[in-house]
Amino acid sequence: MIEGAAALLRWYVDQGVDEAVGEEPVDRFAAPTPPPAAAATATATAMPIAPAARAPAPVRAPPPPPAAPRGPVPLESPQLVEDARALANGCSTLAELEAAVRGFEGCALKRTAKNTVFADGIAGAPVMIVGEAPGADEDRLGKPFVGVSGQLMDRMMGAIGLTRDGGFYITNILFWRPPGNRTPTTTEQGMCLAFTRRHIELAKPKVLVLAGGVAVKAVLDTTEGITRLRGKWTGYTLGDGTVIPTMPTFHPAYLLRTPASKRQSWQDLLAIDKKLKELG
Ligand code: URA
Repeated sequence: MIEGAAALLRWYVDQGVDEAVGEEPVDRFAAPTPPPAAAATATATAMPIAPAARAPAPVRAPPPPPAAPRGPVPLESPQLVEDARALANGCSTLAELEAAVRGFEGCALKRTAKNTVFADGIAGAPVMIVGEAPGADEDRLGKPFVGVSGQLMDRMMGAIGLTRDGGFYITNILFWRPPGNRTPTTTEQGMCLAFTRRHIELAKPKVLVLAGGVAVKAVLDTTEGITRLRGKWTGYTLGDGTVIPTMPTFHPAYLLRTPASKRQSWQDLLAIDKKLKELG
């Protein structure tokens, strides 16, 4: 019984239901049936009453025709991606971009996330890493890559002398944790990616590292898999024509599941180190 209740609570949290709306629970099924007069004026928010318990409905004038639909753009509208792009492109500093992301209400993921996870490390660091999406730890703390895979990422970068104190700057293509780690919709990805592209543009790192297949596909706009692309330098072109050397590499979460692949990631790290030395 207790295990069942705990499992239900965990499921609620995974779905993003992590707050109670009142101090005391209300059993609405046990609420008394309102008298007919009250029933006639009950607001639209009241729970429906079972038909058998309902008093005969008074004869009333037919309701007016419904008003034309108004309100926010539907959550899956491509217009939202356009809005995000316009907003992002209007930002001329990272501080403005961060404020724009934090204030953006168009992405449904924000409604279930505890925090906006923007970036960590020092902007202007030589390396910028772009991962996939915040997980539960990142959502709780509001920082990217702070869970177990983030700790592995820190150790890997540390092995070539780079830390978050000036060596690398880190973010994700999504700024909010998808509830239950579900796959984000195309629109959700598109909106976040609009901000992420501007993020790269404004951070202008010497080297861009894309961690994992999802980030690689989104940022490089390719269908090619990570296994084929990792370890090979490619270029990410900014609006002013600058080409940023870009290294696709395995995601640390994948390395935790497949430690044998760490050998290849070590080669990627050595290539990043060499490139940074060449670039001076
Ligand atoms: N995985 C990611 O891709 N990003 C994070 O921030 C944490 C885990």
